[in-house]
This record gives sequence, C-alpha cells and structure tokens, in this order.
Amino acid sequence: MIERKKKTQDEAASLASLKPFRLIKFFSYSGLAVFLLFTLVLSWIISNHAKKVLLERSEAYAFVVAENLSHQVFQQFVLPTVMRYGKIALRKPEQFARLDAVVRNATHGMRIQAVTIFDSSENIISYSTVARRIGRSGEGGIEYRKALAGENNSVVRSTGTLLNLLPGGRPISSQLSTFIPFRQYQANSQGTGIILGVIEVVQDLSEDIVAITRLQGTIILTSMLIMAALFVVLGFIVARADRIIEARAEERRRLEQQLDQSQRLATLGKMVASVSHEIKNPLGIVRSTADILGKRLKSVAPGNEHLAEIIVEETGRLDGIVREFLDFARPQEPKMTPTSVNDIFSKILTFMEPELERKKIVLEVSLSQEMPKLALDQGLMHRACLNILVNSVQAMPEGGTLSVATRYEKATGLVLLVVSDTGLGMSPEKQRHIFTPFYTDKNRGTGLGLAIVKNIIDSHQGTISVDSKEGDGATFMIALPAG
Ligand SMILES: Nc1ncnc2c1ncn2[C@@H]1O[C@H](COP(=O)(O)OP(=O)(O)OP(=O)(O)O)[C@@H](O)[C@H]1O
Ligand SMILES: [Mg+2]
Repeated sequence: MIERKKKTQDEAASLASLKPFRLIKFFSYSGLAVFLLFTLVLSWIISNHAKKVLLERSEAYAFVVAENLSHQVFQQFVLPTVMRYGKIALRKPEQFARLDAVVRNATHGMRIQAVTIFDSSENIISYSTVARRIGRSGEGGIEYRKALAGENNSVVRSTGTLLNLLPGGRPISSQLSTFIPFRQYQANSQGTGIILGVIEVVQDLSEDIVAITRLQGTIILTSMLIMAALFVVLGFIVARADRIIEARAEERRRLEQQLDQSQRLATLGKMVASVSHEIKNPLGIVRSTADILGKRLKSVAPGNEHLAEIIVEETGRLDGIVREFLDFARPQEPKMTPTSVNDIFSKILTFMEPELERKKIVLEVSLSQEMPKLALDQGLMHRACLNILVNSVQAMPEGGTLSVATRYEKATGLVLLVVSDTGLGMSPEKQRHIFTPFYTDKNRGTGLGLAIVKNIIDSHQGTISVDSKEGDGATFMIALPAG
C-alpha cells in the first residue's frame, strides 16, 4: 500500500518535471501553426496588393490609350469619312479598312490585345479587332452603359488561382477590359460632350498575374521550407530535452530507491544487531548447558547422548547465523595489513579439501607466483573468499570442477581472484539479485553470504562481478587495486 502510494508520488513528481517540455512542445506546434497562418495571410496581402497596383496602373494606361484612340479615330476616320462619303457605313470594306488601319496604327506596340467599338444607339459592335465579334449585339454590359453615360470604367476577367500553377493545372488568364465613351471632338480637339459610342480596350494581364501568383507561391513555399527546417530543429531540441529530463527523472528515481533501500537496511541492521546480540548470550548458555547435559546423560541414560549433541550442533549453527547477521549489520572497519591472497586461498582450500573429496569435486588451482602483497584485512578477505567458495560447492551437489585462480594485471594494476564452478549456474534475473541481502534459494541459507562479500570488497575499494549461465556453472571475479 505504502509502496504503491510512493510509486504514484514518484510518477507525479516525474510528470511535473516533464511538464515544462510538454509546454515547449505545445508552443512549438502552435507557434508553427500560427506562423503558417501568418505566412498565408501575408502572401495573400502581398499578392493582392501587387495585383491592385498592377490593375490601377494598367487601368490608367488603358484610359490614356483609349482616350488617344478615341481622338485618333474621330480625327482620322470619322471626320474624313463623313466629309468624303457623307455618312459612316462600316459595312463598306474601304471604310472598315480605313478604321482598322487607324486603330492598328494608334495601338501599335502598346500591349493592347483587342479594341472594340460599340454603337451608341443599339449596343451593337460596329468594329472590333476580333473579327467574330463584329455585328454582335447586346455584348456591352453594365460597363458599356456606364461609359455611354460618360463614365470611364473597367472590368477584370480572371480565371485560375494558385492551384493552377501546379503541374497539369489549366493556365491562368486575366484580361482587363476598359470602357470609355467615344466622344465627338471639335476642331481644337476639345470634346463636345456628344457621345458617339463606346470604345473597349482589352489588355492581357495573364503574364503579370501569373508572375504575381508565382510570387505568392514562392513566398508560401519558402516559408514552408523555413518552417520545416525550424520544425526539425525544434523537434531535435525538444526530443533531446525530453531525453535529458527522462534520464534525470530516472536517475532521481533510482537514487530515491537506493536511499529508501539503504534507510530500510540501516534500520533493519540496527534491529538485527540488537536482537542478535541479545540472542548470543542465552545461546552460549544453552550450548554449554547441553554440553554438560550430554556428559551427564552418558551415565544417567546411556544411548541418549545424541539428543544433547543435536542441541549442541543446532545451537552451533544458530550461533553461526547470528554471527553472520551481526557481521552484516555492523560491518567492521577493515584493518589493513600486507597480505598474500594466495595464502588465504591455500588455507581455505586445505580446510575444504576433505569435503570436496566427499562431494566428488575436482579442484583446479592456478595461483600466480607474481602476486604483489596487498594491504588487506586478512580476516575479512578470508570470509569473503570462503563465502564464494562455499556457494560454489553448494552449487555442485552432484560434483563437478572447482577452479580457483589468482592473477596480477600489470597494465591495470589490478589483482584478480577468480572462482569458477561447473554447478547449477544462474539466470540473468537471479544474477541481478544475488548481492541483495536476504536473497537466497537455499532452505538453510540466510542470503547474507554475498551481501557480506560485497560489503567487504567495497571496503577494500575493489569490485566483484559474476558471469553465469543457467545450468552451466558460474564464475565470480574479484578485482582489487594493488597499490
Ligand atoms: N556459485 C554459484 N552458483 C549458483 N548459484 C549461486 C552461486 N553463488 C551464489 N548463488 C546464488 O546466490 C544466492 C545468494 O547467495 P548468498 O551466498 O548470498 O546466500 P546463500 O548462499 O543462499 O545463503 P548464505 O550464504 O547466507 O548461507 C544463492 O542462494 C544462490 O542461489
Ligand atoms: Mg552463501
């Protein structure tokens, strides 16, 4: 329950530390969205403005051209024709050819696509540079009527948008049609106010509109590219920050767990130490009493001495366990003296030899003769080596090979103690736990053996590692700094 509560607290804490980066992520996404919108609006404003300027200029230009045309037509066609023929009849080819020549002369080289002249009375096209329009009626719309009322005006006819620029899209077209009244002029070139018809001048703006639309496309495309680059960079930064934060959170969780575990162990250690201490004395009394009892039983009830022996034996074992508890709970400060690790191993192995024989374990010893003497706590190191060797023997209930080797690595300045067995081995999961106090899979084990070994090696500034495969033996390696 407490564990679970702690876990949720941890998760909440790590979530809180991740939040600022979530915010950055959110800002980077929303910032990019705003930037995209802003770019679209900006490109639209720019292109619209450019189109407006283009139209205004084209319109002004068309007015000038049309005014000039109106003047030229009146002076060079209407007046001479009326004088010569009495009236204008464009159906007559020579009159039409004359008007056509005047119009083409007046608009030559002026970026004018078409010129059309509407009749004043019937909305009929009396002349057009586009032959098929001649004679049509009713084609002049509101612009024609406005011009007839004396007002210059124009209209744009466009097709296509930005999408038409995509490959396969229909070409963009844009025409500006400008309508002005076709006035009668006096000899001094002043208009009389009489309107004879309407002149329509058509300019093709497609090229300019395509250029402006391209500009709009380029702005959007460039912005998108910049945005994409920005997005990638931001993505990298956010991902990196995320990783750093995640790693920090993980590190903190680990440290907290470690702290938590060491606090618990310290409390446990104190408890174990005081209990073990209290048990030690009565245990001694029980043992010596059982000893005396055994001797007395010999005479009083012969044949029952083994009962007292069992008590002595079991109290001895209990005493061992209590001592192990005490060792773990109150790790002793190592008292360093120059020691030969080879001697330590030799002593233990001589002592273990009968048991190894009994258990059909073959011993292979390879102790290097070039070992420097190390400053070690002899007693503690003896214990550490003994614990490892005992574990190996226990791992080979059916017999096997126990190898013990020592080596001095000049390059690294390390003394290596290697103990290998051909016993049961361990899974990787098990290997992760074996140095944890009270981890055991033995009926009569305390699980403190390797925890004590680790404490001892740590106090000698050494390291211990294990290499094993389930069912395929285990190798323990201790590395101690020589010097
Ligand atoms: N050489 C080995 N081969 C296979 N398993 C091993 C070996 N050494 C240790 N282990 C595993 O590691 C566990 C922990 O060992 P450790 O020495 O700490 O405790 P223990 O031997 O179970 O009990 P204790 O040593 O306190 O009597 C063992 O229970 C065993 O499962
Ligand atoms: Mg053990």
